Amino acid sequence: MKIGNIELPKGAILAPMAGYTEPGFRAVCSYSGAVMTVTEMISAKGLMYNGEKTLELLHVSSLEKLCAVQIFGSDPDIMAEAVKTDYLKKFPIIDINMGCPVHKVVKVNEGSALMNDINLACKIVSSVKLAANDRPVTVKFRLGWDEDNKNFIEFGKRMQDSGADAITLHSRTRMQFYSGNADIRAWKQLKNAVNIPVIASGDIKDKKGFDEACKVVDGVMIGRGALGRPQIFGEILDKDNVLSPMQAVRMHLGELKKCLDDRTVAVNFRKHAGYYIKGINGAREIKVLVNQAQSVDEVLDILSKILD
Ligand SMILES: Cc1cc2nc3c(=O)[nH]c(=O)nc-3n(C[C@H](O)[C@H](O)[C@H](O)COP(=O)(O)O)c2cc1C
Repeated sequence: MKIGNIELPKGAILAPMAGYTEPGFRAVCSYSGAVMTVTEMISAKGLMYNGEKTLELLHVSSLEKLCAVQIFGSDPDIMAEAVKTDYLKKFPIIDINMGCPVHKVVKVNEGSALMNDINLACKIVSSVKLAANDRPVTVKFRLGWDEDNKNFIEFGKRMQDSGADAITLHSRTRMQFYSGNADIRAWKQLKNAVNIPVIASGDIKDKKGFDEACKVVDGVMIGRGALGRPQIFGEILDKDNVLSPMQAVRMHLGELKKCLDDRTVAVNFRKHAGYYIKGINGAREIKVLVNQAQSVDEVLDILSKILD
């Protein structure tokens, strides 16, 4: 797949997940075989008015091969200005979030609310495209607002006409949030309607799902399927140098320590820890201990007892 002038090898992309796809997790997914990563969603307004606070979200690990930044907002000028800041200069691809279903985001016309205002969505894409200079711009969206308003085909075409270099479809409606099954037929319908690359997102969590999606679209994103299992990116490519769970945890924590202080890393890692030990005997007790840990060494000590 080629996004603008950037060629991606075969493999899956790590989907952006707010609160989860921090540099440590992105690093271990990249090392495992993710061909691209995306930051957590960054508020364009937040960046413009409180840039220093957002910096933590913008750290990129040296293990990441290609990291796109995802921005969200509803003001085309502010979004364009954000893209021009020094903060975002290092990102080779700009992704725009038009799929976030969260109430506090959609109530101010951001995220998936933009699917109900196609003209504004188009203005955002063309402004960001201009501001990005020659960097590719991509858009991630959903099927539409709800079951009766699935406008993803028209939306995708308009994104293309406004300058998007690739589009990602999370094939659920806004009203579905993350429930129900992703509609895998929609990827093919969208692919047939546009000439730019289409990336599929939703419920892809193993080699079979990856191979099936690759038959109909240009690129594939894996989100929840990678939580606690970054090795999935190697497994789908039949790589045999897959990290052990404890190696993955060590790498994850080690990379995160490069941008956050030790205690913050230990605290932030709590939500990931539960995924790394999911399904293992004694996981519940271990999780309680991890939640009390105040340092990375403590976390490693606790997890190594169950994972090593
Ligand atoms: C906790 C969580 C946070 C998410 N945050 C974002 C986000 O910041 N930006 C975005 O475009 N999508 C976000 N998503 C959606 C995912 O990128 C993806 O499209 C969705 O989870 C479906 O793919 P999956 O079944 O592989 O997880 C989020 C999903 C989850 C579960």
